[in-house]
Order: sequence, then structure tokens, then C-alpha cells
Amino acid sequence: MRIDILTLFPEMFQCLMVPGIFGRALEGGLVKLKAHNIRDYTHDKHHVVDDYAYGGGAGMILKPEPIFEAVEAVKAHIYKEEPGWDKFVEMPVILLTPQGRPFSQQIAVELSKHAGMLLICGRYEGVDERVRQRLVTDEISIGDYVLSGGELAAMVLVDAVVRLLPGVLGSEDSAQDDSYTTGLLEYPQYTRPVEYRGEMVPEVLLSGNHAEVDRWRHEQAIRRTLERRPELLDKVELSSQDRELVDRMKKLNTGSAIK
Ligand code: ADE
Repeated sequence: MRIDILTLFPEMFQCLMVPGIFGRALEGGLVKLKAHNIRDYTHDKHHVVDDYAYGGGAGMILKPEPIFEAVEAVKAHIYKEEPGWDKFVEMPVILLTPQGRPFSQQIAVELSKHAGMLLICGRYEGVDERVRQRLVTDEISIGDYVLSGGELAAMVLVDAVVRLLPGVLGSEDSAQDDSYTTGLLEYPQYTRPVEYRGEMVPEVLLSGNHAEVDRWRHEQAIRRTLERRPELLDKVELSSQDRELVDRMKKLNTGSAIK
């Protein structure tokens, strides 16, 4: 996947280049990440990227011209240089903004199917509305809080998408049990030692009985979801057995209907 990011702070994206899942994906050529400075697309002596808001009010607004020109230049470059350029014609152009649709695992999965994506990081008090109207195909928020810019949000989105790309995680199915992929929160995990400060690893995990382990994990995932994020259970498809289990847990109101 090719990811292009328009930002006033391209150097912030250096921190993704560290060893680890993302670094390996970059090195292995599974991902190409380019951060472009919006300021490079200004034409005036002082490289001005923002201006006062029409109608008054505090704060500066990012001007439309450098953002439009940056998007056009990046697209022109991709169409000219990338093999299979036509795969990029439908590439999403995403503005990171607290006004966007809430980011989710489902959106990460959708985005991971594209050959590329172009992310625009907002700054200051906002972005000229014409960028929203005419340039972007999507607006995404990573949560109901306001960051000082879209850069950290872009990194969150990029990380969540890249780890879903085939070959990025060690084994193809290691993202399959993730919280939110199954629609449930993930079950508790343990590693050695078997006993630590008086707390034991649950017997069933030591049993070597894979069917029992799977059953325990599934029930724990349901229990954890019920305890922490009960609203998620309304959206997930559960078997009638699982529904009964949820009902029992709710009745007991302790989440301890299962052992
Ligand atoms: N820019 C500022 N705050 C943001 C948020 N919560 N999500 C996405 N982009 C942002």
C-alpha cells in the first residue's frame, strides 16, 4: 500500500520508521509512506499556509490553494510513476478532523483494501471549507477530543490499517482474534510463569485441550465485553447458546456465570 500524507510537520512521521511491525512493513516494501510538506506548495515569499477567518473570530484557517495543489501534485506523480496507477484512481482522500466519522476497526479494514490513501492533516483552527467540499472523499476523527493537529490521528489510522495488510503481521491470522475484529473484546492472555505473586494461570489454558481452550476464550471474550463495553454485544452476531450465556451473566450481574 502507498500512503501519502499532507502535513505542515512531515518530520513528525519519522517516528514511524523505528523497528517493529511498521518499520518491517516499510523495509520489506509492503508499505510506502511519503510525508509531504503543504508549505512546499505555496508560491509566495513567506510560504504562507494560513489566513484569518472571514467573518472574524480567533484562530487561523488553513488556506485552500496549497492543499489543493499538493493533492493534485501527489496524484499526478502517482499516476505517472506507480505501476498499476489505475488502482489509485479510487484512492480515498481523507481529512483528519474531530468533525469526521468516528474511526473504527471496520473502517481500518475497508481502508486496508485500497492500493493507496492520501491523508490530510489539519492544523490551527481549521481548514477552508472548500477542501471539505471539493477535495476530500472522507473525514475521520479518532475520538471525541481535540488534538492540536491531525498528525497523531493520521499515525493512529496508518498503524491500524498497515497491520491488517497481508504479510505485515507474522502469521496471516494474527489479527483475526483482535478486539473489534470479532466484534468482541479480546479474552485474557497469559504467559509464563504459571504462578506469579500468588496469581495462577487458569487451569484450562494448561490442559492442552484446544477445544476447551477455545471455548474458555470465547466465553471470556463475551464476559469481558459484557463487563466493559456491553453496547458492543448488540452489534455482534452471537449463537443462541451465547445469547443464553449473556442472559445468565446479566441475571447474575457478576459476569461469573461461567468458570
Ligand atoms: N484533529 C484534531 N483532533 C482530531 C481528532 N480527534 N481526530 C482526528 N483529527 C483530529
